Amino acid sequence: MSPLDGRFVGRAVELAAKGLGTTSPNPVVGCVVLDVDGNVVGEGWHERAGGPHAEVNALAAAGERARGGTAYVTLEPCNHTGRTGPCAQALLDAGIARVVFAVPDPGALAGGGAERLRAAGVEVTGGVLAAEAERVNEAWLTAARSRRPHVTWKFAATLDGRSAAVDGTSRWISSVESREQVHDLRRRVDAIVAGSGTVLADDPDLTAREPDGTSSPRQPLRVVLDRRGRVPATAKVHDAAASTLVSTAATPAELLDDLHGKGIVSVLLEGGPTLAGAFLAAGLVDRVTAYVAPTLLGSGSHALAGTAITTITDAIGLDVDDVALVGGDVRVSGRPRR
Ligand SMILES: NC(=O)c1ccc[n+]([C@@H]2O[C@H](COP(=O)([O-])OP(=O)(O)OC[C@H]3O[C@@H](n4cnc5c(N)ncnc54)[C@H](OP(=O)(O)O)[C@@H]3O)[C@@H](O)[C@H]2O)c1
Repeated sequence: MSPLDGRFVGRAVELAAKGLGTTSPNPVVGCVVLDVDGNVVGEGWHERAGGPHAEVNALAAAGERARGGTAYVTLEPCNHTGRTGPCAQALLDAGIARVVFAVPDPGALAGGGAERLRAAGVEVTGGVLAAEAERVNEAWLTAARSRRPHVTWKFAATLDGRSAAVDGTSRWISSVESREQVHDLRRRVDAIVAGSGTVLADDPDLTAREPDGTSSPRQPLRVVLDRRGRVPATAKVHDAAASTLVSTAATPAELLDDLHGKGIVSVLLEGGPTLAGAFLAAGLVDRVTAYVAPTLLGSGSHALAGTAITTITDAIGLDVDDVALVGGDVRVSGRPRR
């Protein structure tokens, strides 16, 4: 990878991130177009499902200056006609001479763009800055490869790993700033999943709010796992603020299968400890994001239960790729090792 290739794919990753929360069920994609002399002449990203793809937006910005130039894209340009035409063809029509992309398209439907470009005489380089591009698109890539939604388990805990006090209270373990970040997480997913225990204990609304406190225009589906029908119709999850699915799925795998069938690409698992244990035990958590508060309880429920792990060698390790201080809490995020 040349430093220049890395720099422009890096910029394309930044552009792709602007689409998080509005492109589902499509991927987030960013694109930078350089003219024949190496000047940036167009930038674009996929803004919403049904809208133009990143390459088309960047090529539109570049116009005739794209001829003989280079396109940097976070995902292999698509090769199929969906709601918009194939990006591989759009790049050819614009006279692009070189294409650099980060991650191959895993979709049987849209893949093959690199081959089509090569066959037409375009110089194509893949795999540049692949880890960064995978990270920004991990929800969609997981769904495309595993044929189930990507699952982030998010929780708040005290420094000694408690998620609620003995009397069941858990509001608020984490700081105001951490709780605001949770609304960012909610805005980016298609569904929020909680167990009946959490809904009965806390009566959460499970909606996404904007930084100014107003309801977000796009609300994720609220999913309550309630096999015994214990959650009353008066619970806040049944208000009009968002749609709600009450599921009696026997296992997390069955639930994810069902959600995949409904076109759900990403899920935020918001607890509680019993349900999180069931998902982890089934190997169905792709990312863990913890907000650890600088407080101690010494008693009360643990952040995680029911994994059936009995010996330290079976502990689930995480590949941590994010640690930050958030309003006095420590945010730790990583991917469980399989
Ligand atoms: N600090 C945090 O981040 C946080 C987050 C969430 C909750 N909490 C706290 O956690 C406590 C509630 O804990 P909890 O463990 O009872 O809540 P939970 O995990 O939300 O709910 C557990 C219930 O989910 C249902 N469930 C449905 N499908 C399941 C499956 N496949 N596997 C396991 N359970 C399934 C079960 O009831 P059925 O058998 O009836 O279906 C089970 O009793 C509250 O005190 C709450 O404040 C803390």
